[in-house]
Amino acid sequence: MKCRVVTSAWKDVEADWLVVGLPEEFDLSGAAGELDRALDGQLARLREAEDLTGKHAELLTVHGPRGIAARRLLLVGLGKLEELTAARLEKALLTSARKASEKEHQKVAVAWPSAPVASMAPAEAAALIATTLTVGCVGQDLYQSEHKRFLFDEASVAVEPGGDAAGMEEAVRRGQIVGEAMNLTRELVNRPAQDIYPHSFAQQAQALAEKYGLECEIFDQSRLEAERMDSLLAVARGSDQPPRMVVLRYRGGKGDAPTLALIGKGVTFDSGGLSLKPTDGMVFMKCDMAGAATVLGAMAAIARLGLPVNVAGYMGLVENMVSGRSYKLGDVLTARNGTTIEVLNTDAEGRLVLADVLCYAVDEGAAKLIDLATLTGACMVALGEEVTGCFSNDEAWQQAVLSAAKRVGEDVWPLPMFDHYAELLKSDVADCKNVGPRWGGAITAAKFLEKFVSKTPWVHLDIAGASFASSNKPHREGGATGCMVRTLVEIAGQFGPK
Ligand code: BES
Ligand code: MN
Ligand code: ZN
Repeated sequence: MKCRVVTSAWKDVEADWLVVGLPEEFDLSGAAGELDRALDGQLARLREAEDLTGKHAELLTVHGPRGIAARRLLLVGLGKLEELTAARLEKALLTSARKASEKEHQKVAVAWPSAPVASMAPAEAAALIATTLTVGCVGQDLYQSEHKRFLFDEASVAVEPGGDAAGMEEAVRRGQIVGEAMNLTRELVNRPAQDIYPHSFAQQAQALAEKYGLECEIFDQSRLEAERMDSLLAVARGSDQPPRMVVLRYRGGKGDAPTLALIGKGVTFDSGGLSLKPTDGMVFMKCDMAGAATVLGAMAAIARLGLPVNVAGYMGLVENMVSGRSYKLGDVLTARNGTTIEVLNTDAEGRLVLADVLCYAVDEGAAKLIDLATLTGACMVALGEEVTGCFSNDEAWQQAVLSAAKRVGEDVWPLPMFDHYAELLKSDVADCKNVGPRWGGAITAAKFLEKFVSKTPWVHLDIAGASFASSNKPHREGGATGCMVRTLVEIAGQFGPK
């Protein structure tokens, strides 16, 4: 898909759709007024008839608008101007992109907002538009014989002559790269476990690494054994699909600059193992590798953007299945750092995978860690389906991640890590057990992971809710969301020596 900036009066923009955002109580003095005049006062009439209110994400299509070059005018409400944030602008634009992408071969132009978000630099808004158009025209219809959504032939940001177009081309390119990275993550998550299993995921990672110039190392079963990653291996044992760990390295920074490590849970299917999930809990468990897919998407974007940092991505890939070889309740596992773990629930498998992968990243000398995992249903109970839970052993690092998320408009919320939660993981037979009591389940899971990061500043992001949406909404496609790719790219952009 081609993404670009066009400098032209809106009425002259050639496109199948010209998307114009209008706030509630829009005024017709500026560029919108000129559009209204070209339309012979139609905007004003629509407003008067209350067919056009400017309410947030409200859509109105004007077909064959006279006096303007575009084939259709797509008017989208931006809501109250004082409430317009990056996240709300994104929702309005995604709603428009989803609408315009229902037909094949469409050219879409978004008119530069006559009422931009106050806190956003024009280039940032242009990047957001490019990301949103790139993400919004891709659906979860991969396996449908009749597609529901089509890539745009062209997506552009239309800036009035004399408008602030400086730096926008570059911003649009950046925005598109980030959007494509989110789509990459989404596609991997949306593909079922019959297609995405540890080996096939690793192959995809390798192909991407070659394409974007990343170093790629793939650990197979015997290498994982040699690295003493017995906690990860135990989870993998019940499956016919052998495990993998993928390590991607990107060195955009100086040789001696610190490395940011991104670690992803890649359970390509989570049946629960012998602690088998019921059908309702298992239906969407193809999504349990979203952490790994997010790391892969972010690594691709970081490499394509050429960020001046050193980043390493670690993806722990296993399938959690039931068989005569499955790991069992009561088994005691020894993780890479020597910690022994009593398994009391084989469905708490993500933490067992991450334990070894976190140890490995620490052993490689990572300066700071972020792990991403669809780790607990409890996190969804706490925060709902759209907010990522954040846990950390380091206040400043947590703050850095939270503010990066805020800047790109992703919803992330911290949960506490008081010492006493760790008591809940004490075992009578091993150093710890892999589950605590029901209450505080997202936090005890995080406390479990903390045992494997030594003193390295670490943030754990529980994306169980936010990474996968069970249904379509006007403002977003159901299925994988690509959440946290933007936040990771943003934090990598800020990463460097203190
Ligand atoms: N992959 C699940 C968590 C999950 C639930 C992700 C719903 C996405 C949506 C994880 O492996 C799991 O099964 N967690 C258990 C932990 C429990 C056994 C302590 C859970 O949340 O029930
Ligand atoms: Mn599980
Ligand atoms: Zn899981």
